[in-house]
Amino acid sequence: MALLEQIEPLKQSGLAELRNASDTAALEQARVNFLGAHGKFTALMKQLGGLSKEERPAAGKAINNAKAELETALAERRRELELKASQPNEPTDFTLPGRRRLLGKLHPLTQVTEDIVRSFRKLGFVAADGPEVEDEYHCFDALNTPADHPARDTQDTFYIQHPASSIENPGSGPQPLGAPKSDEGGSTLNSQRLLRTHTSSVQIRVMEKQQPPVRIIVPGRVYRRDNADATHNPTFQQVEGLYVDRNVTVGDLKGTVEFVFKELMGSETRIRFRPHYFSYTEPSFEIDFSSAFTRKLGREWLELAGCGMVHPRVFEQVGYDPEIWTGWAFGFGIERIAMIRYGINDIRLFYENDVRFLKQF
Ligand code: DAH
Repeated sequence: MALLEQIEPLKQSGLAELRNASDTAALEQARVNFLGAHGKFTALMKQLGGLSKEERPAAGKAINNAKAELETALAERRRELELKASQPNEPTDFTLPGRRRLLGKLHPLTQVTEDIVRSFRKLGFVAADGPEVEDEYHCFDALNTPADHPARDTQDTFYIQHPASSIENPGSGPQPLGAPKSDEGGSTLNSQRLLRTHTSSVQIRVMEKQQPPVRIIVPGRVYRRDNADATHNPTFQQVEGLYVDRNVTVGDLKGTVEFVFKELMGSETRIRFRPHYFSYTEPSFEIDFSSAFTRKLGREWLELAGCGMVHPRVFEQVGYDPEIWTGWAFGFGIERIAMIRYGINDIRLFYENDVRFLKQF
């Protein structure tokens, strides 16, 4: 058969094989058969050499046109097969309900902290922050807490061992008013680093930087050398409050605490102040509260927080004139509030990250 006459039937059989390919493997086989290096059209091309000079261009052109048609058919079938492969085998039931994604939640301690901060914001307080790795000066000395105070004992506090060279020298930078110089008497006592045992250190940090009036609320992590049990953990969270202005009274303190705890624990919450001792406040009190939550725990009153009027010596340390400025401060543990609020009986549950526990809040 003349070469020219073979082209059309070969093209037709190639098109049929490509279009009927039932999957991508069959399609590839059809491509190899007709368009591959050893395929039928390559064989035809090889026969071109046997034609006369006059016949050759027309035959070459016809072969190329046929190949182009086959390439188009190949691409088209490939698209069809790929689309088919990407669709589900089973028909889709559009009436089925969607799959719900699990939404994450804030940790109960974060929720309680945010509630506390939100209540204080309503009264014009701003959130402040300070370092967890503190020095003894900000944690104790500046808070009128003497060197023989039990909180400073190595049995109660995590002290940090560090090479002397890594301590920034308190004598060489801007010096907090009244801060003892580190080179005095060669004592390193006051530059000793520790993990802060309470957020009260942030009172000092803020007052060093800012003139009164001050209205801050300080949520943050604190550390103590406690063994973990149902009510203790070596790290926990506190909230500190500090208010400094002219003519601040215990009445302001009590009114503020009452407002916030009614918001937190319900409107029928009552609070009472009991005289106590803290070295950085005078007078000092412990705050008890009573609500449906405490009665659920079988108690009318539960102790909740420490507070008092800022001690004049603390003001002197930060360079505030205690004849002009007055203020109150308080501090309490967030875990305790959360435990009472949610009826949780073991503090360690907060830190285990067990989703079965966490998703209840
Ligand atoms: N710092 C105290 C503690 O950790 C709590 C506290 C008591 C904070 C009295 C205060 C305060 O600001 O005035 O137990």
